[in-house]
Amino acid sequence: MSRGDYSDRYGPWALIAGGSEGVGAAFARKLAAGGLNLVLLARKPEPLKALAQQLTEAFVVQVRTLAVDLTEAHTFDRIRQETADVEIGLLIHNAGAENTMADFLDRELANAERMIALNVTGPTRLCHHFGTLMRGRGRGGIILVGTLGGYAGGPGLAMYCGTKAFTYVLAESLWFELRPYHIDVLGLILGTTRTPALARMGMAEDVPGFAAAEPDAVAQEGLEHLADGPIWHANGTEAIAQTVRAMPRGQAVAMIHESSRAMAKLYRPPAEADGNTASRQKNSGADSAAKSREDLTSHTKLT
Ligand SMILES: NC(=O)c1ccc[n+]([C@@H]2O[C@H](COP(=O)([O-])OP(=O)(O)OC[C@H]3O[C@@H](n4cnc5c(N)ncnc54)[C@H](OP(=O)(O)O)[C@@H]3O)[C@@H](O)[C@H]2O)c1
Repeated sequence: MSRGDYSDRYGPWALIAGGSEGVGAAFARKLAAGGLNLVLLARKPEPLKALAQQLTEAFVVQVRTLAVDLTEAHTFDRIRQETADVEIGLLIHNAGAENTMADFLDRELANAERMIALNVTGPTRLCHHFGTLMRGRGRGGIILVGTLGGYAGGPGLAMYCGTKAFTYVLAESLWFELRPYHIDVLGLILGTTRTPALARMGMAEDVPGFAAAEPDAVAQEGLEHLADGPIWHANGTEAIAQTVRAMPRGQAVAMIHESSRAMAKLYRPPAEADGNTASRQKNSGADSAAKSREDLTSHTKLT
C-alpha cells in the first residue's frame, strides 16, 4: 500500500498498544514510513522515547509516547485524555504475551486477572472507544494481535490461551459489524515470533517444525492484509491453525502442550535461575503436573 493509501484509509494517526519493541515497533516503523502519525504505548518510557526519536528523525511524522501499564484500571482514561485532540484512524492492539509458564493453580489469582485486564478488558475498552469514533467518521482499521495458542487449551498457559481465544472471536465479530462503516478489522494470528519479550522469557525460538517468524515480516503481513479479515495467519501458519481447530479437543490440547514444551527446553523459571530453593520446592508440584501431562499426551496420541 502506498503512502497516500495508508493515510487516507487509516490516518492521520495510529495508536499501537505495545508499540515499543518487537512486532509493535515494526508496525510503528512501517506506518511512519507510510506517513501516519503515531501514539505509542508501553510501560517502559526509555524504549518508547528511543523509538520515537528514531522515527521522527527518519520520517516527517509526529510521535507521541505514553508510558502506561495497560493492566491498570486508570490507564484507559489516560489514553482517552491524551488522544482527545487527534484522530486515531488505526488501532493496533499488540501487547498481550505471557511471560512465564506455570499451571493455573500454581499462580496467584492476581496473575490470572492481569491477563484478563491485558487481553480482554483492555482491547474491549480500546475497540469500543476508538471504534465508536471511527464509525462516526465512516472509516478506519483495527488490528488485534493473537496467537495460534488461542485455538486450544494450553497447559501452563491457561489464561494466555483462554484470553487469546477472546482476541480472535472479538476480531471476527467486529469485522462483520464494522464492515458497513468501512472499518477494516483483522485478527492477526501469530505463531512463534522472534520478539525481545520471547527472548526474555528464555524460550527457544526455533525448534524443529516451528521456525520463528521475524517481527518485521509479520507486521508487513498484517498491514498488507488488513482489509482481508477477519483473520490472517502470519508466516504461513494457516495450515497449523486449521489442523488445531479441526482436531479432537483432547489431542489439540496435547499438541499445544508438546509444542510449548519443546520451546521451553531452554526455559527455567527466573526464581530457579536465581537459585531460589523455596521456589524450587514449590515447583515440585508443577513437576508432577508436568509428568501427568506427559502421560496425558501419550494417552491422547493413542486414542
Ligand atoms: N513472540 C511470540 O512468539 C508470539 C507468538 C504468538 C503471538 N504473539 C503475540 O504477539 C504480541 C506481541 O508479543 P511480544 O512477544 O512482542 O510480547 P508483548 O509483551 O506482548 O509485547 C511487547 C510490547 O508490549 C508492551 N507491553 C507488554 N505488556 C504491557 C502492559 N501491561 N502495558 C503496556 N504495554 C505492555 C511492551 O513494552 P513494555 O514491556 O515496556 O511494557 C512491548 O512494547 C502479543 O499479543 C503476543 O500474544 C507473540
